[in-house]
Amino acid sequence: MPRKVRWGIAGLGNIANKFAADLIITSTVDLIAVASSNLSRAEAFKDNYGAKKAYGSYNELYKDTDIEVIYIAGLNSDHKQMTIDALNAGKAVLCEKPLGLNTTEVNQMIDVAKTQKCFLMEGLWSRFNPAINRAKEWIEKGKIGVPRFLYAEFSFYRLDADRSHRLMAPEKGGGALLDIGIYPLFLAYFLFGMPKDMKALTLNASTGVDIQTSIILQYENAQAMLYCGITNNSDNNAKIGGTEGEIVLPGRWHDTQFIDLIKKEEKIRDELPTLGNGFTYQIDEVNYCILNNKTEGRWGLKNTSELASLLAQVVDMTSRQN
Ligand SMILES: NC(=O)c1ccc[n+]([C@@H]2O[C@H](COP(=O)([O-])OP(=O)(O)OC[C@H]3O[C@@H](n4cnc5c(N)ncnc54)[C@H](OP(=O)(O)O)[C@@H]3O)[C@@H](O)[C@H]2O)c1
Repeated sequence: MPRKVRWGIAGLGNIANKFAADLIITSTVDLIAVASSNLSRAEAFKDNYGAKKAYGSYNELYKDTDIEVIYIAGLNSDHKQMTIDALNAGKAVLCEKPLGLNTTEVNQMIDVAKTQKCFLMEGLWSRFNPAINRAKEWIEKGKIGVPRFLYAEFSFYRLDADRSHRLMAPEKGGGALLDIGIYPLFLAYFLFGMPKDMKALTLNASTGVDIQTSIILQYENAQAMLYCGITNNSDNNAKIGGTEGEIVLPGRWHDTQFIDLIKKEEKIRDELPTLGNGFTYQIDEVNYCILNNKTEGRWGLKNTSELASLLAQVVDMTSRQN
């Protein structure tokens, strides 16, 4: 049995709760401390998840010598500073997606991780989802022939959100693209690699953030159609079409527990139930890296950098349109 890895959590909102619930069902984790801008929120969170300590500031957490790795779950606009501060305190960091608001931020964060020789990974948990990994394996084994088409969307209705909500506020790094559009782009990148060309169109809220974005990626011999939006609910399926069949990741595909292979009249379904809320695979990856002195996981910094450059191309293209 490997020793326990000593974790801390900074920023105690919605996703930190889901993540912490998975941390504490992982046998090789010791949840040492949690930190919030609000001490009573930190204390309540500590009691809920059995952490040992609660802090009313992030700096106290970064300085805690009992902690090896910090999960950063603050607003998108706070990721850069929180990550750099934790890295400069010598901590390994798992930071929620998107790692930074743009490529400049991402590059700065990566530079600090390299200078500090500390582990850094973007919390793109779908990279570790078993069904998504099965899709990659099936494509590589030629189960659908030559892959020619990918469709992925991620949308839900949230137009009722207040202007100050993190999704609607540009100063909080809001918008559909950074919140959920990153997932369809990730899937195309993970399965097909970097595209040769791209087209993108967007519709914006009055606050200036995007609320619907459609993207077409052009590859040498394939195309991907991607959509994200906070304007409508959807089945959130993804599919990959090839010359000899089709793979479907049923909605919500980004944390799905199923994968279908459809060939002519035949449909085979594999069930790959995920543990907890589905963050456990990403947590296992971080633990493995810490225990084996690795500074990068299988969702590496080059991957994050390339995905950030795709997001930047979408932003560039759509900001010229609006
Ligand atoms: N991986 C995923 O599936 C997933 C899903 C959703 C979001 N995310 C990412 O996770 C990050 C945080 O998203 P979120 O949905 O957790 O946002 P959120 O609930 O709005 O929390 C964001 C921050 O606001 C503060 N906060 C939380 N509750 C508060 C309250 N009642 N009053 C005042 N402040 C409060 C927290 O920091 P303090 O405790 O320090 O004040 C928290 O870190 C974002 O980067 C997002 O992209 C990832």
